[in-house]
Amino acid sequence: MKPFFCFSIFPLLFLTFLIASQSAIAQNSIYKTCKIFAQNDPNVNYNFCTTSFQLYPASQNATLQELGKISIRLIQYNMTDTRFYIKNLIKNKKWDSYTKQCLSDCFELFSDAIPSVKKAMKYYNKKLYGDANVQLSAVMDDATTCEDGFNERGVVSPLTKRTGDAFQLSAIALSAVYILRTGSN
Ligand SMILES: *[C@@H]1O[C@H](CO)[C@@H](O)[C@H](O)[C@H]1NC(C)=O
Ligand SMILES: *[C@@H]1O[C@H](CO)[C@@H](O)[C@H](O)[C@H]1NC(C)=O
Repeated sequence: MKPFFCFSIFPLLFLTFLIASQSAIAQNSIYKTCKIFAQNDPNVNYNFCTTSFQLYPASQNATLQELGKISIRLIQYNMTDTRFYIKNLIKNKKWDSYTKQCLSDCFELFSDAIPSVKKAMKYYNKKLYGDANVQLSAVMDDATTCEDGFNERGVVSPLTKRTGDAFQLSAIALSAVYILRTGSN
């Protein structure tokens, strides 16, 4: 964004937007929240967002704070499952050496990401949204780095769906953190 906007119109627009977002969220539906997330952040896909929350009945009448928490829990389940999935892929299939190296790097990356998600949850529960943001960003980077490994040499990634899910879920959690962080100060 241009500095001109930062010093003039932008803060006002932004404030109006935040107040509007908060009240929309207070009425609370998954659809409204996902719509705001998707508008805020091009990394959030509206359909992915609503589908992910719909899997959890508790999301239905949840506050923004609760939806953020649910999304972090979803990342944790998702990545833990993917870590096992990668482990089995390495064990149960024959791979060329480059793909195998990538899979092994991904296993490390997902292994690093899981404690980061746990830290993010801890910070989130303490309303330390800046710290939660740092951890969730690291998680998102891990998913991206994993996928990039395959892409660097044009190798077909067997993990595209999985890394995409981790990336998307992180983007959702980051959107919640962003609104809580900027709206609460
Ligand atoms: C990960 O999350 C996505 C999006 O909610 C879901 O479609 C997928 O089934 C989940 N994967 C696992 C292994 O839980
Ligand atoms: C959510 O709220 C609606 C309307 O207030 C209510 O009908 C519904 O039972 C609630 N759902 C859950 C899961 O609590």
